[in-house]
Amino acid sequence: MPSYNLLLLPGDGIGPEVMAEVGKVVAFLGQAGLASFETETDLVGGSAIDAHGKPLADATLKRADAADAILLGAVGGPKWNGVAYDIRPEAGLLRLRKDLGLFANLRPAICYPALADASALKRELVEGLDIMIVRELTGGVYFGEPKEITTLPDGSKRAVDTQVYTTGEIARIAHVAFDLARKRGNRVASADKNNVMKSGVLWKEVVGEVHAAHYADVELEHVLADNCAMQLVRRPKQFDVLVTDNLFGDILSDAAAMLTGSLGMLPSASLGEVDDRGTRKALYEPVHGSAPDIAGQDAANPLAMIGSLAMCLRYSFGLGEAADLLDGAITDALAGGARTRDIASEGSRVVGTKGMGDAVVAALKARVG
Ligand code: IPM
Ligand code: MG
Repeated sequence: MPSYNLLLLPGDGIGPEVMAEVGKVVAFLGQAGLASFETETDLVGGSAIDAHGKPLADATLKRADAADAILLGAVGGPKWNGVAYDIRPEAGLLRLRKDLGLFANLRPAICYPALADASALKRELVEGLDIMIVRELTGGVYFGEPKEITTLPDGSKRAVDTQVYTTGEIARIAHVAFDLARKRGNRVASADKNNVMKSGVLWKEVVGEVHAAHYADVELEHVLADNCAMQLVRRPKQFDVLVTDNLFGDILSDAAAMLTGSLGMLPSASLGEVDDRGTRKALYEPVHGSAPDIAGQDAANPLAMIGSLAMCLRYSFGLGEAADLLDGAITDALAGGARTRDIASEGSRVVGTKGMGDAVVAALKARVG
């Protein structure tokens, strides 16, 4: 059994608590002979600011670069509200994404049968929901220059962010979306704002060209990002793969998360280009944030973090069976009635973060026999 090197970056707030539950799953996978990992733990975000004065130490970035995969909890919190913009906790996460070239962010929004009633939408709208959001992660307004606040002659200020995309950046994320669609429902919706933004005009054009040249068998639909937000809450099951830019993807994936019952349910994978050896850099993290309001209370839902480990097994290590097993264990834990507070409904058995992790490990044990 090959052994993989995993870098764990628990981060801030509920990050360390949900990461601890991943630790239990990793230990079980090792004991059961399903997958073996060597793990190292390091700091990112606010905890790194406290220790090193910046949200990502160079040594941590080096470790991240050398690891087979990275698992990250969450960053940020009110404690660091006052720190300079360049060294705010989020900057650590953004540097990891940018410097490791993790341009493809996969955010699956799946509604587990047991949770259809926890969604803000009616059961019939979300039951069976299975959307894959493909968010461009290293370009657009997140990283475009200039990005600044300047003072005008009259003393007032002017803030600029720059939305910028090149043909290459759009084409490579389009390829990821179309390739994924072929393994799923064979449909891609591409969201942009070509009615207002030049970057949107180029986005639509390039996605269309990649489609025509390589993926004529896949169904493609272009949708305006605002309409897409509306369609997501009106009739979400119309979508299969949804590809969009960095900022729209940030917003639309939060909306999609709530369809599934809770932000605490959504895992994600951030992938780099495939290299000559057939491997790629990868970071896995829950879509939810550090939730400082519930940190340290054993109240956070660890399923998005555990689901991120399942994505890691699948996308970084080709361990599809182990990933299916883990996804199945999450389904079983929910079907068995375990609910953290965020997904609890009347009459459900409310468990803490640790209790949910234990329920997943118990379900794994039951499945392995
Ligand atoms: C996300 C988060 C991040 C983002 C923040 C924490 C910088 O909201 O991963 O969706 O905006 O990308
Ligand atoms: Mg976000």
